[in-house]
Amino acid sequence: MRREARVDAVSTTLRTTSIDRMTQSDAEAIAGWRYEPPYDFYDANSDERDLAELLDAGLRGEKYFAAHDEHGDLIGFFAFTTHDGVVNVGVGLRPDLTGLGLGLPFLERGLDFARGRFAPSGFRLTVAEFNRRAIIVYERAGFVATRSFPHDTNGGTFQFVEMECSA
Ligand SMILES: CC(C)(COP(=O)(O)OP(=O)(O)OC[C@H]1O[C@@H](n2cnc3c(N)ncnc32)[C@H](O)[C@@H]1OP(=O)(O)O)[C@@H](O)C(=O)NCCC(=O)NCCS
Repeated sequence: MRREARVDAVSTTLRTTSIDRMTQSDAEAIAGWRYEPPYDFYDANSDERDLAELLDAGLRGEKYFAAHDEHGDLIGFFAFTTHDGVVNVGVGLRPDLTGLGLGLPFLERGLDFARGRFAPSGFRLTVAEFNRRAIIVYERAGFVATRSFPHDTNGGTFQFVEMECSA
């Protein structure tokens, strides 16, 4: 399918995306996703603890949600954890769907889902400072940077930005 046709098709689909608790088979599929550098930082196997949490139903708990299109194809995932009424958001589009402008509608679909499910007062997320692509999408969704801090992950120390948005 042409790139434009695929983007149109997925954009339409994003409005009817279903979001449900992540199953073991979703988790195993996501564990095999590989992003192009520098986003391979987000491959599940970049951090052993993250990979273990993803693949073990007990560790995964109630945090992870999978998004499927109308054909039942896995298109991305969300991680939601609530602290004092604020929902921490993690987001990941399937690698072949990134870089096409689909991140904003996908994120907005996830935030809508989280509003309905958790009735939060606000949203918070953290993002690696180098990930300008993600930060642009978060800003377009209404998130504002609140602080920057070093964080140990993926075998190194990286600068992260915390961002918040009202619900
Ligand atoms: C983060 C994510 C939701 C972003 O969605 P996306 O659809 O891929 O992003 P877009 O294609 O809309 O890109 C957003 C903007 O960043 C711009 N951009 C892309 N790469 C960039 C770079 N290296 N520097 C500056 N801007 C960049 C794009 O041009 C676009 O701006 P435009 O609409 O004005 O052209 C998606 O890539 C994703 O889920 N990735 C998985 C890995 C990841 O980064 N996770 C984030 C965890 S915090």
